Amino acid sequence: MGVSLGPADYARSLWRIVRGKPNVPPSLRDNALLGLLLRRRSVRSYGERPVPDDVFAAILEAGRLAPSTVNLQTWSFATFTAESWRATFDSPLPFRGQRAVLVMGDTHRAHAVADAFPESPLVEYTVAVMNASLAAMAMNVAAEALGVSSVMLSETGRSGFLDAGYLKERLALPDGVIPLMTIIFGYAKGAYPPMPPKLPLDQICFAGRYREADPAVMADWLAQMVAGYKASHLFSSFDAQLKVYQAKIGQAEADLRRMVLK
Ligand SMILES: Cc1cc2nc3c(=O)[nH]c(=O)nc-3n(C[C@H](O)[C@H](O)[C@H](O)COP(=O)(O)O)c2cc1C
Repeated sequence: MGVSLGPADYARSLWRIVRGKPNVPPSLRDNALLGLLLRRRSVRSYGERPVPDDVFAAILEAGRLAPSTVNLQTWSFATFTAESWRATFDSPLPFRGQRAVLVMGDTHRAHAVADAFPESPLVEYTVAVMNASLAAMAMNVAAEALGVSSVMLSETGRSGFLDAGYLKERLALPDGVIPLMTIIFGYAKGAYPPMPPKLPLDQICFAGRYREADPAVMADWLAQMVAGYKASHLFSSFDAQLKVYQAKIGQAEADLRRMVLK
């Protein structure tokens, strides 16, 4: 992408990030669940305090009871402690998290009882991804409600769909079970990070026909992304991180084609 910012644009973009706030009418500001949803952040630094078993079980329960297409529950969750993650993957749990759940789309289980998806790999894949992602978000929100922070990972630590082939092999996943993301859980160390730049509602929402985004607003957003990344990663850059993703895409595409299209 190659965006480089001069000092003035860098400072202006950081200022915009720091000033970013959810837009909520004053009359709704004390709604507890809304407040939780708007306050939630991806947390990448955890303390040593363990997540108790009953709290973790409640988080999983929120995933189990999530909505799904025809109530097919096309998901599987692989659970880890820091120790079992290390034993399974020979690497530490990212960000010193205390627990993790690898969320998978799973149509293997439903296939065993009913032929719900005759010859429709893209429909099957879409249903699996959609439902499992909703379950992931339910776990993320439940955690937040219990004072536990989280971050979803699809790349960091070989933890998601970009390493689908590797995870399939390590966890002996049958066909129809596709790794999507790992959610890391723990108690946040320090304050939450500022809200990363979110696109304004009028750029993502339209009534009637599709509306193209404003190039000036998109350029402004990109400048904030670049500045925010630079401020929080002394030895990396937004471009460098994009290249990390891009380097893995070819292998991931090949693995997913094999797993989804067979
Ligand atoms: C499916 C998914 C995969 C993600 N993968 C990663 C990842 O591999 N590494 C990482 O540091 N953050 C990852 N994130 C977190 C995003 O970077 C984060 O949600 C985004 O920057 C917005 O920040 P917020 O969650 O605080 O609103 C992922 C998020 C989602 C939903």
